[in-house]
Amino acid sequence: MAKLVADTSQFVLVTINDAVGLKRRDAEDSDAVFVDFCAPALSYRATSAVKQQGLSKAVGIKGALRPRVLDATAGFGKDAYLLASQGCRVTLFERDPLVCALLRDGIARARGTSDPSLAETLARMALIEGDFLSHSADGEWDVVYLDPMFPESKKSARVKKDMFALQEHLGAADDGEQMWLRACEVACKRVVVKRSKSAPLISAAKPDIQYKGTSSRFDVYLTPK
Ligand SMILES: C[S@@+](CC[C@H](N)C(=O)[O-])C[C@H]1O[C@@H](n2cnc3c(N)ncnc32)[C@H](O)[C@@H]1O
Repeated sequence: MAKLVADTSQFVLVTINDAVGLKRRDAEDSDAVFVDFCAPALSYRATSAVKQQGLSKAVGIKGALRPRVLDATAGFGKDAYLLASQGCRVTLFERDPLVCALLRDGIARARGTSDPSLAETLARMALIEGDFLSHSADGEWDVVYLDPMFPESKKSARVKKDMFALQEHLGAADDGEQMWLRACEVACKRVVVKRSKSAPLISAAKPDIQYKGTSSRFDVYLTPK
């Protein structure tokens, strides 16, 4: 039985079996989405070199090189988790309080398991609740990673359930270019922007490198710009 934790206009945070979930006010409990770092699909991606290729190359993982990453748009923390599982230190910014609550809960539940490799990965992740655009971020990062919510095309049927809920809850962002400009100021080496494969560029500037996957692509801008 779900217990109500927080209430915004359309979406509510609930606890179901001790996990914090996000769901539409009128939806079934079974429609709630969670941050789950133990999910088999995520574990599979974390151990599959092929599945990680685009992301790893885009941030500059090579040999023993493990860049320090600021993930300015943490969301469900999956990309941050994949990078941390490869040895990168990742600072996650998330500005939405409900999404941040999901992330905190997901991290706490994963820490509660007895898996040592999961614990090692989580120890490389630091979550900050706040807006990347207004936060005077203390620290040095080689890479700033951006995955803003872009408006979905008709192919949105392919969007996973958790991302679909996030899109419905947050709507599409329109501050992409501002995010990119700020990211270029902060990143010591590169800014990486994740886009759906056919989405327009985030700014008028052309990326220095692009890595294309089946549904998404990574645009890499070498800094300083
Ligand atoms: C598409 S989701 C990111 C998904 C994420 N890459 C993952 O792997 O789960 C975008 C997220 O960025 C957050 N966001 C957008 N702009 C932000 C900003 N300026 N500062 C912090 N978080 C931001 C949104 O609230 C949303 O949760």
